[in-house]
Amino acid sequence: MFKNFKEIKLNFLDFFKSKDHIVLDGSSLVPSENDKSLLFTNAGMNQFKDFFLGKKKIIYDKVVSIQKCLRISGKHNDFNNIGYTNRHNTFFEMMGNFSFNSYYKEEAIIYAWELLTSKKWFNIPKENLFVTVHISDIYSYNIWSNIIKIPKYRILVLGKSNKLNVNSLNEDNFWMMSKFGPCGTSTEIFYNYLNTDKIINFDLNLKKNNYLEIWNIVFIEYNFCSDNILVNLFNKFVDTGIGLERISSVIQKVNSIFKIDIFTNIISIILYEFKIKLNNFNKNFIYIISDHVRSIFYLIIEGIVPSSDYRGYVLRKLIRNVLVYIKLIKIKKIYLFSLFKSLITNLPDIFVLNNLSIYNINYIKNIIDNEEKKFFVSLENSINILNNYLLKLDNKNYLDGKLVFLLYDTFGLSLNLIVELCKLRNIKVDINKFKYLLEIQKKKSKLTKLINFSNLNLNKNKYIFNTKFYGYSDLLELDSIIKNIYVNDNEVNKIDSNFKNCSIVLNKTIFFPESGGQVGDKGFFVGLNNSFKFIVENTKIFNSCIFHIGYVEYGLLKINDIVKIMYDIKNRIRLSCNHSSVHLLYYSLKKNLGKNITKEGSRIKDFLITFDFSYNKKLSIKQIFDIESLVNNIISKNLLMIENIFKKSPSLNDDNKFIIFNDEFIRKIKFGNFSEENCCGTHVKNTSVIGLFAIINEYSLSNNIRRIEAVSYDSAFKFINNQRNILNKISNLLLVNNKELYNRILLLIKKCKILKNKNKDINNLCLSYFLNFFSLKDIIKYKNINFLIKNLNINLDDNFSYFFLKYLLNYWKLSFLIITVISNKKKNILIFFDKNLKIDLNNFLKVIIDMINIFTKIKLIIKRNIFLTKIILENYQFCIDKYKFIENIKLYFSNVYF
Ligand code: SER
Repeated sequence: MFKNFKEIKLNFLDFFKSKDHIVLDGSSLVPSENDKSLLFTNAGMNQFKDFFLGKKKIIYDKVVSIQKCLRISGKHNDFNNIGYTNRHNTFFEMMGNFSFNSYYKEEAIIYAWELLTSKKWFNIPKENLFVTVHISDIYSYNIWSNIIKIPKYRILVLGKSNKLNVNSLNEDNFWMMSKFGPCGTSTEIFYNYLNTDKIINFDLNLKKNNYLEIWNIVFIEYNFCSDNILVNLFNKFVDTGIGLERISSVIQKVNSIFKIDIFTNIISIILYEFKIKLNNFNKNFIYIISDHVRSIFYLIIEGIVPSSDYRGYVLRKLIRNVLVYIKLIKIKKIYLFSLFKSLITNLPDIFVLNNLSIYNINYIKNIIDNEEKKFFVSLENSINILNNYLLKLDNKNYLDGKLVFLLYDTFGLSLNLIVELCKLRNIKVDINKFKYLLEIQKKKSKLTKLINFSNLNLNKNKYIFNTKFYGYSDLLELDSIIKNIYVNDNEVNKIDSNFKNCSIVLNKTIFFPESGGQVGDKGFFVGLNNSFKFIVENTKIFNSCIFHIGYVEYGLLKINDIVKIMYDIKNRIRLSCNHSSVHLLYYSLKKNLGKNITKEGSRIKDFLITFDFSYNKKLSIKQIFDIESLVNNIISKNLLMIENIFKKSPSLNDDNKFIIFNDEFIRKIKFGNFSEENCCGTHVKNTSVIGLFAIINEYSLSNNIRRIEAVSYDSAFKFINNQRNILNKISNLLLVNNKELYNRILLLIKKCKILKNKNKDINNLCLSYFLNFFSLKDIIKYKNINFLIKNLNINLDDNFSYFFLKYLLNYWKLSFLIITVISNKKKNILIFFDKNLKIDLNNFLKVIIDMINIFTKIKLIIKRNIFLTKIILENYQFCIDKYKFIENIKLYFSNVYF
């Protein structure tokens, strides 16, 4: 029996309702303000992120939802696939069931299988289904194999290692919402359209196109934190996603999402409006348009307007893309909004939200019309430029990548447009060369990016030596020899001040390379007789080879030159003080909070220490004080640092001791009987050098992980001085001494509250006074808007005006009002808009300001916040010519739809 899109949705919800799930509405396409990690909602689980992370108390047990998603940016971006594959959409609806520490792997898999295969529900033949699991998830494998009884050859195990770590994050069957955040392994269900009898070996790569991923079941157990650590969450969650369009294509037995009922409806309207038939030439373009119209519609309805960056840019790109494809299909004079109007009128199920009124439709029209107008001219220009180039081609069948790049880079033509226009003329485009040139350009533009070690062209034979490291000794300078020179990722023989991003490898060094959380040393090298100077901005290590990264200040550096190298001593002392403080802090944390706490990571910079550790509560002020005091107590004991280096194997040459950054040696750092840790960092010789240690911040990083920020040495004294300065400033302001400060502030807060209440009373009094100047007759009605224009020759205080105007607007349900008042002896024109008035405010304001300009012929000062505009006039006498104004405004609105 045929099931339409809507019935499939209802079926899904009903199934999970029968399994005691609560039905929740999907969230907005625009993620919440606090979630900066996403441009658009890209999965059903987005709205539950804070529950997963333990930031919000769990209030659900089992939930089912249908979520509008957009995958057009960030980690999940399907933009370039649209129209060319049978399974991608920019906008789609994702159905999902979720468990919050209720059921887990077994039920999640059993539910999915029942819904997909049961005759009562989706009735998909079992023989066409295949599954994948992550290599670490034997449990799910066994459920598929032993309980569901899927033949083993239909279960594909993906992923590299069964021990999960940060490398697992990019593997198949490991799902993350964005670059950071909740994540976990997944098991996925695939559908194969073909007769699958003959398949004896399920291999996604061999026949990828025949396998359609229909259901992703994720077991959320971890949080990947922004400082690259994977931590266990306190609870376990199930997060599943089943693309409504995809599953509909399976249930409706068509082999592409563009052939399901809602798309055939959209496409037939497009064809009708364009007065064309679907053919092989226009098919992909029509698919792209049919995909984009849905995204455009929902983005506009969410209040997004086209712009040159962020979300508005995505909307602009989609609208422009549609216009490009319309042009490519050679539809002349199509007016994009008429297509939308037709879609909205004919497909209310897809294009009409609950309360889409004529008012919203005109809002959509304004946006689309404006964008179309703006883009039309530049589109025509681009096409002319390309046509001219194509005419001049020597080889009439081939467009060189260099030319493509020129058109793209200099004239701003999109690759899509170039390729499609060439296709129409049977001209081949060298896309590979274009991509290569684009890469080179990207590399060039990474101005300050430091050398990227993973791309480094290492000639292994040249690395028979390792850089010897003398950085733990007392040496402040050292003579050394240049062994290799790199510019960006390429090896060269010499460099001068014209090169950026240079790195130098020496035979030996005292510069500490970034490791163990400690940042790399800075400093400089000079040549014999000061013939050159190289500034080192950072030091890094790769394969026991130490790279000094920076630039030439003067002179010429060559391979085999002798150099005198010196690190920045002040910087090194700060890093050493901070590193030793971190060891003492770790000791103190264990003493004060219990020995079970573990170090989760640390970062040691010149002016700041961050230290992450496992603990489940916010630290009290007393705990912070005790932790800090113990560290300072140890510092004051004048303890010597004791360094012990052990060879792991006795056969190792002692000389290798200078190559400490490898696995062959263990270095232990000890301070008295207090702290002992394996460590490769630099440390103070005596704790007294540190002087002082201070904790400046403590907060939660994720569930059960806390972070301490601290300072030591001169930064600690500066910190205390800053605090004192702040206190002094406040005391001076309040004319009390520091001791009385607290009570004085309490008193002030009380007084503020009293004043606020008085202010309210005064505002209300004023309000009744000002209201006397208005009457119902002042309201002008036109179409379905009410507005008010009034000359008031009275003084109105700036602070009061906002309150007053807002009151008027709400009281009389106005769309906007314009009044003149006097403020600071000047005439002010105040224009206040209802925030729900969905017209192009800028445009409307322009019209008003033009009118005022005509009437006053003087320069205006305009101050705006979103809904209140203030125009200040020098001319004290000015009065609005109300009738002309009203006439003009009506004229304006007669062309704008609501
Ligand atoms: N979050 C997963 C996905 O989007 C499962 O819902 O694929």
